[in-house]
Amino acid sequence: LVASMEQVEETYIMVKPDGVQRGLVGEIISRFEKKGFRLTGLKLFQCPKELAEEHYKDLKTKSFFPKLINYITSGPVVCMAWEGVGAVASARKLIGSTNPLQAEPGTIRGDLAVQTGRNVVHGSDSPENGKREIALWFKEGELCQWTAVQAPWLR
Ligand code: TYD
Repeated sequence: LVASMEQVEETYIMVKPDGVQRGLVGEIISRFEKKGFRLTGLKLFQCPKELAEEHYKDLKTKSFFPKLINYITSGPVVCMAWEGVGAVASARKLIGSTNPLQAEPGTIRGDLAVQTGRNVVHGSDSPENGKREIALWFKEGELCQWTAVQAPWLR
């Protein structure tokens, strides 16, 4: 019970503009939903340049940074907050390698993408960044904490 994989964590997942444009939103959401994580935030959102730059601030000195900012702000994204046991590392596994040509089949990028600069989805790389990114992309009232209840929804 001490392993970090057993901690309930929050992760920020985002369908990037290419995922929205290509009609992959439902497919991508369902990967996390089926895995068993709990959705606590969800919205379609046109990201302003300043927010994209803040989100990717650790990459500011990279040569691809301007292209990355143009890409992320090129159209609406789907912002999501998910929580669950070991959610950060597990979501990164479901997403696959940054370069989709190196991502394993069965992962989101491995199945759905080709280019690093068009890799359809983002996932936080640490629990600290999960918290930071959820606070950056969502306002307080946009998040819901909830627990599954035993209810006769279909009867
Ligand atoms: P990074 O945080 O390294 O990858 P990940 O999204 O898998 O956590 O990089 C952030 C994004 O920057 C990445 O998803 C795509 C883009 N990127 C490039 O366009 N070119 C590159 O060479 C790299 C490393 C990243």
